[in-house]
Amino acid sequence: MLAREGLIAAVGTRAEVEKLSEARAAEKLDLGGRVALPGFVDSHTHLIHAASRAEEYELRIAGASYKEIARKGGGILNSVKKLRAATGEALKKRALAALKKFAGHGTTTLEAKSGYGLDVASELKILRLHKELAVEQPLEIVSTFLGAHVVPAEFRGKSGGAEPYIKLIEENLLPHIGEHRLAEFCDVFCDREAFSVEESKRVLQAGRQWGLAPRMHAEQLSRTGATRLAVLMRAASCDHLEKVNKSDIRALGKSETVATVLPGCDFHLGLKQYAPARALIEAGAIVALATDYNPGTSPTLSMPMILSLACTQLRMTPAEAIAAATINGAYALRREKTIGSLEVGKQADIAVFEVADYREIPYYFGVNHCWMTVKRGRVIHAAEQVPI
Ligand code: NIG
Ligand code: FE
Repeated sequence: MLAREGLIAAVGTRAEVEKLSEARAAEKLDLGGRVALPGFVDSHTHLIHAASRAEEYELRIAGASYKEIARKGGGILNSVKKLRAATGEALKKRALAALKKFAGHGTTTLEAKSGYGLDVASELKILRLHKELAVEQPLEIVSTFLGAHVVPAEFRGKSGGAEPYIKLIEENLLPHIGEHRLAEFCDVFCDREAFSVEESKRVLQAGRQWGLAPRMHAEQLSRTGATRLAVLMRAASCDHLEKVNKSDIRALGKSETVATVLPGCDFHLGLKQYAPARALIEAGAIVALATDYNPGTSPTLSMPMILSLACTQLRMTPAEAIAAATINGAYALRREKTIGSLEVGKQADIAVFEVADYREIPYYFGVNHCWMTVKRGRVIHAAEQVPI
């Protein structure tokens, strides 16, 4: 492969590329026969949060369910409390450390959602951090506004349900986000525990008026009909999908809305019902895989681990899983023309693995074999050579 100014200029066999005149003067990077993939496109993360929720992890192991913990003020609201109390500096430090690890696991682009602020100052604080991080470190960050994650505590127990909070999103948040281009997408957690289909539609329509394309958290804990709304609104992607029914699968199969499955959540929560990835693929859906990196349901930033779960739990082939974690993730972020595959004209975003065969990446589960990561032609991670 030949890269020029961060873009792929040629691909082919070593002999084909080496005979190009430009190749003679190029700096050489010999990968020594290792496996090179397009860098992972992690199309669903909640990058900015203040702390883990290890205490809830232990409660769940003892038998409490995710829903029970959330209803008692834990869950997302627990992370909201922690984020509001954190300084921008502390949040940034934590995110930067995570981004280094993302790069170390072969990720070159990730989406990042707000949604642990849930008031004007805190949501804007997160979105501004997305923007700062995008220019201060090498990974590409795609910003999503998830103000409609849940109704914050101060709006609960009042008359009118979610209405006053949705008004705040429409009148105080979206205009500022739109004007300052703080997000590209608008997401909603559509669930019995969060926002109804009607409420979700309203938020996504308001987002669209400010230039934010819709995407959704859908059919995760309960089936609500969110998938139908996502397809109807031509959302960029529809994520989770554990509880989809046959007609949802058919609708996704016929649509351009990417079906993003997040097996890290079910694994971490110890749930047995994973999203029906095989049925989605067979129906013709564009299936993507992402980490859903967040402190509540999926505290992992390892795309290789997600590939392992996709293969063993979702019965995706290693090739399907890799396509889902690269080019289909790029589709989910509407960046399929610039990233997600190793083709001429696209960014030189490469993840190199210390394995003999690409299938060994998911096969050796729980171990990171990423040997080098390249973003726009620049080495951003190189494994230490440990002498034996
Ligand atoms: O993608 N489903 C909603 N949001 C997150 C979980 C957030 C949390 O528990 O902190 C998710 O699973
Ligand atoms: Fe999520």
